[in-house]
Amino acid sequence: MSTPNPLTWARDHAPVLADLTDEFREERPFEGLTVAICSHLEASTGVFVETIHAGGAECLVAPSEPKSTHADVIDHLDSREGIRTFAEPDMSDRAFERAQSDLLAERPDLIADDACELIARAHASHPDAVEEAIGGVEQTTAGVRRLEAIDADAGLGFPAYGVNDTPMKRCFDNVHGTGESSLVNVAQITNTALSGKTVVVGGYGHCGRGIARKARGLGARTVVTEVDPRKALEAHMDGHLALSMAEAAEIGDLFVPSTGSRDVIRRAHFERMRDGAQLANAGHFDVEIAVDDLEAMAERTTEPIAGVTRYHLPDGRRLDLLTEGRLVNLTGPNSKGHPIEVMDTTFAMMAVALRELAVGERPEPGVHAVPDRLDREVADRKLAAVGGSRDDLTAKQEAYLSDWALDGEAF
Ligand code: NAI
Repeated sequence: MSTPNPLTWARDHAPVLADLTDEFREERPFEGLTVAICSHLEASTGVFVETIHAGGAECLVAPSEPKSTHADVIDHLDSREGIRTFAEPDMSDRAFERAQSDLLAERPDLIADDACELIARAHASHPDAVEEAIGGVEQTTAGVRRLEAIDADAGLGFPAYGVNDTPMKRCFDNVHGTGESSLVNVAQITNTALSGKTVVVGGYGHCGRGIARKARGLGARTVVTEVDPRKALEAHMDGHLALSMAEAAEIGDLFVPSTGSRDVIRRAHFERMRDGAQLANAGHFDVEIAVDDLEAMAERTTEPIAGVTRYHLPDGRRLDLLTEGRLVNLTGPNSKGHPIEVMDTTFAMMAVALRELAVGERPEPGVHAVPDRLDREVADRKLAAVGGSRDDLTAKQEAYLSDWALDGEAF
């Protein structure tokens, strides 16, 4: 048997990207452009890179997390003419930063970013890259927030679309993708049941809602912690227990924060946790669980199973941290990230937003909402791919919906 192409399986489950690849191959929207792609370098990202490459781009690829790169994927991409990766599996933080700087030194025209890694670095220390770029697109919540912060502070040097904030991204990737893949990876790493456990979800935004819903579906009791009283109430009305983290700390078996903030679980909470509590981060950055506090509190650490660091506390309790507090769905020993079907639409949104910047009317520098027609385009393609269908508004319905008098008659 020949060595399998690591992207074949992902391609089979990404019908929208396959559609766009065929179209881009014909239309060549990125002809003559260099496109930087920063993301978790696993198979579905590889399919996305090939989609953009099919549109005529030279692709430069860097990781958005030091530990989420798959060796077979970057080997495959490097074997393609016109694609260059700046990545290795399991990079040190320094090598990770250097790789991004090396990429930016090539001054790409377009940047497809994750967590604003390349765009923030460009604005911080590569002014020539900012000057050269004609636009960017951003795929995650943490990244859109950083884009807005750059814009409010120094002003973005080019237009950037906040792809994360589209319904086609947030309502599927964040809710279903993070919900499913985080819990699947916890179960796979620990080989312990979720059923019958108390799962504490930090944050009830898009990701948290998905994690809590899926955990309950697997038979867990669910607790949600929030800082926004409306979100806490929403969690309560959805049937979860809404508690502060200090209260939840005493009853949780598994803790999964995904807030986009830092120190959501910290010393005061570790002090109250049960022996054997498991901690798994699903937020983008590895700061949601205060690992420094755990390290300061522990007498020693062990690795009871691959992907788990056990902190032995002086009072005999053991707290198990998964994947060093990094993204649990992407950095475990066998993690592959979100299901491919979900990344199909996330990357399709990134691809059509890039196409808009390349051949459409480019907006002013700053952060912009992706035009709704692009969101609908991807939704229609996906709906067709899953065998669904929908109705169109009739002319009478359209007139009714835009008629403020509601009966077509003037007063
Ligand atoms: P969101 O903005 O929809 O929700 C965040 C929620 O956390 C909000 O309701 C907020 O009130 C709450 N929150 C903030 N600070 C808190 C605290 N200290 N304690 C409790 N709740 C707090 O954001 P979304 O889309 O759910 O993303 C959350 C994080 O997950 C981001 O870092 C994002 O980049 C990341 N993400 C991770 C993915 C993965 O593959 N694991 C995929 C998509 C997003």
